[in-house]
Amino acid sequence: MCDNCKKTFYITTPIYYPSGNPHIGHTYTTVACDSIARYKRMQGFDVMFLTGTDEHGQKIEEKAKEKGVTPKQYVDEIVAIFKKLWEYMNIDYDRYIRTTDDYHVESVQKIFKELYDRGYIYKGEYKGKYCTPCESFWTESQLVDGKCPDCGRDVIEAAEEAYFMKMAPFAERIEKLLTETDYLRPKTRATELVNNFLQPSVDENGNKTYGLEDLCVSRTSFSWGVPVTFDPGHVVYVWIDALSNYITALGYENGAYDDYKTYWPADVHMVAKDIMRFHAIIWPAMLMGLEQPLPKHLAVHGWITFNGQKMSKSLGNVVDPFILGERYGVDAIRYHIMREMALGADSSFSNEIMINRINSDLANGLGNLVSRTVAMIDKYFGGTLPTDREEGDFDADLIAIATSLREKVDGYVENTQLNLALEEIFKLVSRANKYIDETTPWILGKDESKKARLATVLYNLLESIRIASTLLSAFMPSTMPKVFEQIGAAEFATYENSDRFGVLPLDTTVKRGEAIFPRIDVDKEIDALNAIIKNNEPKEEPAVEIAPHKDEIAFDDFEKVEMRVGKVLACEKVKKSKKLLKFTLDDGFGERTILSGIAEYYDPDELVGKNLAFVANLAPRKMMGIESQGMILSAEYDGKLRVVIVDDEIKPGGQLV
Ligand code: MSP
Repeated sequence: MCDNCKKTFYITTPIYYPSGNPHIGHTYTTVACDSIARYKRMQGFDVMFLTGTDEHGQKIEEKAKEKGVTPKQYVDEIVAIFKKLWEYMNIDYDRYIRTTDDYHVESVQKIFKELYDRGYIYKGEYKGKYCTPCESFWTESQLVDGKCPDCGRDVIEAAEEAYFMKMAPFAERIEKLLTETDYLRPKTRATELVNNFLQPSVDENGNKTYGLEDLCVSRTSFSWGVPVTFDPGHVVYVWIDALSNYITALGYENGAYDDYKTYWPADVHMVAKDIMRFHAIIWPAMLMGLEQPLPKHLAVHGWITFNGQKMSKSLGNVVDPFILGERYGVDAIRYHIMREMALGADSSFSNEIMINRINSDLANGLGNLVSRTVAMIDKYFGGTLPTDREEGDFDADLIAIATSLREKVDGYVENTQLNLALEEIFKLVSRANKYIDETTPWILGKDESKKARLATVLYNLLESIRIASTLLSAFMPSTMPKVFEQIGAAEFATYENSDRFGVLPLDTTVKRGEAIFPRIDVDKEIDALNAIIKNNEPKEEPAVEIAPHKDEIAFDDFEKVEMRVGKVLACEKVKKSKKLLKFTLDDGFGERTILSGIAEYYDPDELVGKNLAFVANLAPRKMMGIESQGMILSAEYDGKLRVVIVDDEIKPGGQLV
């Protein structure tokens, strides 16, 4: 790198699924990355901060279908909400990638081909357990009580022709990456990953064998994805598509950008623990296969939970970041979530803890320190400090804490321990508040001969506030400039000045302003938030009236009903009838026609080829001039009708017994 070139810093959030609106969980990761990016910019780095959306996959395809729109229309709408939230939360990203962007699609196709050409991807058949909501295949041993280990839902047997990526060639290097380097943060997660996924075993001669299975990297069961160029029935597995974003967004294998050389390898990928394994194993394997450098760090944080459950889209309303921001200010929310979450651990979200923290740290701690200091300078010196000084007890301790703060915060930011960075900054805030109690400026103010001492005390307070608020400006970017304004530090609040005392002019002029963090009335707000939560709770479904029982019948009577299985050969609407569908069934003996009043529940085409249950010995009946030779069996609930479908094992003519 040239001497004049700035050092670069590349940080990424996961690219989120636009399968539902963003919630406080997504907000946490994005705010944390934004704060680190801002801090690094402040330190003079040339920063690339990337976020985006992961828009392909079966889940999105299904959701779009449910809504009756195309997958692209569906994601466009939600992506707009993500972007709106990031703007609202003051997220200053440099680039936003959508996996539906043409340049990304092109690169993913090339990456897939590259891995294929190098012999790491091959064609085979996949048989296994698949979790549709998570879009993940699992081995039997990874299932927990037979269910998906990530979400606890049922898995299905799936078999399809598919491409696989060899993992064995990378296993040893991945183990080393996880256990011998500081890639993974916190490192404590390495053992869990190695044992669960790499499954190494050592024979009596000390030779290591890894149980890391090949990864299925293409799908044929749906089409909303990146097509494999050389086998178009296949789409690239969403995780291969998604993980590639970190390099395609820089221009890897595309002409849209030319930043790969400048920013890769990434300094920090930040993710939550749910997607750690993809970033700790699959992503490094892909890069090894492509012979590209590996990212420097993977920072894994825990989940924001609510009542012990992972925050989910359905719980999203409980803590809608828009609503919280509106009530308490965006910076207060940014502060709270970052202060609460320790790297690696879960953090339980509670409105009460949030409000108490905003009150104690921001309103009483920092807010009070600023307003008291400014008010005293106003009161005793008409807003401008005199230049005479007199040192005294307690100064040295305060100054030592203030001037050593930046180094500590640098270290915490470097290690993505933002809660500790904030805790450290607030130690200075508390120390400064204590300094007011120790130096009793209100007593000094009464004594004309103590004016120089009083000016020193107030100046030291201004300097402490300047240092704390400069370092905080990466975390609370819209409020800190208001603090600079009030303490007369607008042009001095730079990172370079933030480890030095005595930067503000001796005769600094302050400017009283509004309270930067107004105190919140805890009880009132808790009630208000609970009311919002209650309002947003899914309304109880109105009770459905279940049809009453009929009179008992004898077994012999039941035996008289002949119910069979028939395959639908054709189905069409009956002209001039809103209700009737005309079915032509193969009933095992030949063809028969049955009319059924289910036109409003099915498109005629939908049922062709299906095996339906029907009553075969019902006396024929004419409707709309057509003879119906039996009755299709349907189930009725809540006014809706669904036909009884029998699986293909039972052929036409099969009896219901
Ligand atoms: N699309 C994948 C990521 C692909 S990255 C190559 C995905 N998307 S997601 O929408 O489910 O987002 C998961 C990420 O959102 C987590 O890793 C985390 O960063 C953030 N969070 C979502 N819910 C969260 C919590 N409840 N708590 C903390 N972070 C949460 O996985």
